[in-house]
Amino acid sequence: MRAVVGWLDDRLGLSANIKPLIEHPVPPTGWDYTIGSATLIAFTVQVVTGVALAFTYVPTPDHAYESLEFITRGAILGGIVRGIHFWGASAMVLLVCAHAAQVFLVGAFKYPREVNWLSGTLLLVFTFGMAFTGQLLRWNQDAYWAVVVGAAQAARAPLIGDWLTGILFAGQSVGGATLTRFYATHVFMIPAVIFGLLGVHLYLVIRHGVSDPPVPGVVVDPKTYKQRYEELVHKIGVPFWPDAGWKDVVFALAVGSIVLILALWLGPPELGNKADPTIVRAYPRPDWYFLWYFALLALMPVSIEDLFIIGFPLLIGLLFVLLPFIAPFGERSPRRRPWAVGIVAVFGVSVAALVNVGSNAPWSPDLGNLAVPEQVRQGLSPTAAQGAQVFEQRGCINCHTIAGVGGERGPELTRVGGRLTADELTWRILNGGRNMPAYGATLTPQETTALVEFLSTQK
Ligand code: HEC
Repeated sequence: MRAVVGWLDDRLGLSANIKPLIEHPVPPTGWDYTIGSATLIAFTVQVVTGVALAFTYVPTPDHAYESLEFITRGAILGGIVRGIHFWGASAMVLLVCAHAAQVFLVGAFKYPREVNWLSGTLLLVFTFGMAFTGQLLRWNQDAYWAVVVGAAQAARAPLIGDWLTGILFAGQSVGGATLTRFYATHVFMIPAVIFGLLGVHLYLVIRHGVSDPPVPGVVVDPKTYKQRYEELVHKIGVPFWPDAGWKDVVFALAVGSIVLILALWLGPPELGNKADPTIVRAYPRPDWYFLWYFALLALMPVSIEDLFIIGFPLLIGLLFVLLPFIAPFGERSPRRRPWAVGIVAVFGVSVAALVNVGSNAPWSPDLGNLAVPEQVRQGLSPTAAQGAQVFEQRGCINCHTIAGVGGERGPELTRVGGRLTADELTWRILNGGRNMPAYGATLTPQETTALVEFLSTQK
């Protein structure tokens, strides 16, 4: 046995290379320094459960929903694995954001760790990419329509809108090709990128060492920093394992337990109905990590919304990239950087408030079983009467109010016949609009005619 271990160790160089790595001295740090490693563990859990799901999941419009149904109800432990993957995704988004906030607060992005920060920024972006692409894979009504709304919004970005929807959604609308593309992005492309970036990120953590906890008044000066860090680690440093690493293990175990408890207790989210491009009786509402952004868009004045859709993420991204170059030196302690504390606080409170607005906003469709009121139906021609039926069946009424009945996501249509001509009505129905899906591909010409005739009577 010893001979085998010795042989392996000689050939792989474990005790020569890995052992010093594990035992290298680090400054004594607090619990806040464990968030990064917990994020890494959360990612590992996502990879393991994701691979398990991929054994059974079928990424085609005909089978995606059914295969998830089977995973949730039929497969052994399937519901738990899906639950862990779902709650783990939330944990990972939260941890990534918390890690970024913590690094920002203790000024660990400053010299010489600027590239740590930049690679971390990319990891943050790609984590959100995972969250966004994962949602559609459920292929249920809510997820499908949330992505349709997302596609409609991306299409409105100035200049690059068409190009962007073409790349993201494999066409101008969401369909089978979109599912395939999201699947490939979710299981191959982004994970591969994340693995690569993690390699860079961790290498840099080793190269520059774990940042020393900030002390008010001790400033970062590129001339003296590295020497001072060496001396500090020499004087008060402890071996990473076990003296500092046990905290990471405890925190990661705590996060893992919470995820497991949520998966066992609440389980994965209900699938609801299968995605149906012809019926908008859905809750086009993204998972919470994007809800704040949708809420923000809903609250925006329409005139600047198009610019905002693409401008806002670009601005945030630009600030992230510029940060280590704007403030590479100087104070690190949050006690001497009140503006840093202020930014994190304002950002956290705004996102929480927007998630709250997003989950209660009237801009979601009314999902009740709604019917066009009797007084509207009276005296309609046969075609118009059919139009009234289509108006109910296709879920128009879930977004539009007529004579006091209906949802509030779109404008009221009680007097639309006086406002719009038959041509304008047809155009709107076929092409959709701001937050209204295009029906060109799903209505028969006869249904469209009936709808237009019906709406024209509403004066
Ligand atoms: C998901 C919600 C939603 C659904 C479903 C929906 N609409 Fe709309 N509709 C909207 C929104 C939002 C607008 C405003 C679009 C804009 O201003 O660009 C709108 C605009 C309109 C308008 C123009 C109103 C005006 O005053 O300018 C008409 C007409 C219309 N919809 C008809 C329909 C019909 C018919 C259906 C069913 C086939 C339908 N809508 C389904 C959300 C929806």
